[in-house]
Amino acid sequence: MIMKNRNFAAENKFIIGKKIIFMSYNLLKGKKGIIFGALNDQSIAWKVAERAVEEGAQIVLTNTAVACRMGTIAELAEKTGAVVIPADATSVDDLEMLFSESVKALGGKIDFVLHSCAMSANMRKKRTYDDLDYSLLDKTLDISAISFHKMLQVAKKLDALNDCASVLALTYVASHRTFFGYNDMADAKSLLESIARSFGYIYGREKGVRVNTISQSPTYTTAGSGIKGFDGLYDFSDRMSPLGNASADECADYCIVMFSDLTKKVTMQTLFHDGGFSNMGMSLRGMTQYNKSFIEENTDKETGKIIYG
Ligand SMILES: NC(=O)c1ccc[n+]([C@@H]2O[C@H](COP(=O)([O-])OP(=O)(O)OC[C@H]3O[C@@H](n4cnc5c(N)ncnc54)[C@H](O)[C@@H]3O)[C@@H](O)[C@H]2O)c1
Repeated sequence: MIMKNRNFAAENKFIIGKKIIFMSYNLLKGKKGIIFGALNDQSIAWKVAERAVEEGAQIVLTNTAVACRMGTIAELAEKTGAVVIPADATSVDDLEMLFSESVKALGGKIDFVLHSCAMSANMRKKRTYDDLDYSLLDKTLDISAISFHKMLQVAKKLDALNDCASVLALTYVASHRTFFGYNDMADAKSLLESIARSFGYIYGREKGVRVNTISQSPTYTTAGSGIKGFDGLYDFSDRMSPLGNASADECADYCIVMFSDLTKKVTMQTLFHDGGFSNMGMSLRGMTQYNKSFIEENTDKETGKIIYG
């Protein structure tokens, strides 16, 4: 039996048993898209792929060859009827192959692209920001930011995108403000957002293509959980945000709107999808928890001063 759920009634969602079913608005009917970065069913890209197809799109899924082998992308491909084309987002050759093969597989030019790729080998190797390995920093910037430029440049040179296409990348507020433990990814996200502005100008002027980034709340995914102190960051962010943290499903909803024709004049923006976090200074919930933090462990026993970490 399909039961309309009161909480979600206005949002066109239904509950069957325990599963929430998203009803389609056909926002992407007839559109063709490429989605980078679905590793497993926690990935934000995974949720975006599911929602895009629910909204009537045809998609190509892509990830590195290793991620395609190790992850569960084949399951998503089966579920969404998508073609999987492995590509390393840092390789221009791979990207050229990906965009031309995608146009062939989808039977026409591309209407939307999601860049959902990030990795910091410095973080993985527990190198702190004042002890970075520079070859690993190059990798972080290449995978997490310059790959966005590469895909935009390849798409433009191949003329693989339709007029008024929408290109999105996922970012985090540490691009603007300093967060303990976010390390060299903060620099990568600043660069990513800058690329969206610089390329957005050129691509918008010439083809009406929109280029934006969505700045998402902390989200439990493979990449998210790699951030130092992630549990605390997640809780802090949730307490600080009047609407609470935005989930991966909610991020997917926002991506769909940005891919749709409803946002044709939005470009070169960092769009905050974070429950209000980015405009907060202190919330009551945050302050209550902060007051509980004056514990001995945070105080230097000899000097009596607070340790800032
Ligand atoms: N999870 C969070 O808290 C959070 C918050 C804000 C923004 N984001 C951003 O969202 C995006 C998606 O991350 P996620 O949280 O869904 O984690 P995830 O680990 O599921 O996705 C990261 C993806 O990047 C892919 N990737 C790594 N190197 C690549 C390469 N060379 N070429 C192509 N793909 C490559 C991985 O295979 C993986 O699929 C990232 O840009 C991340 O920084 C995440």
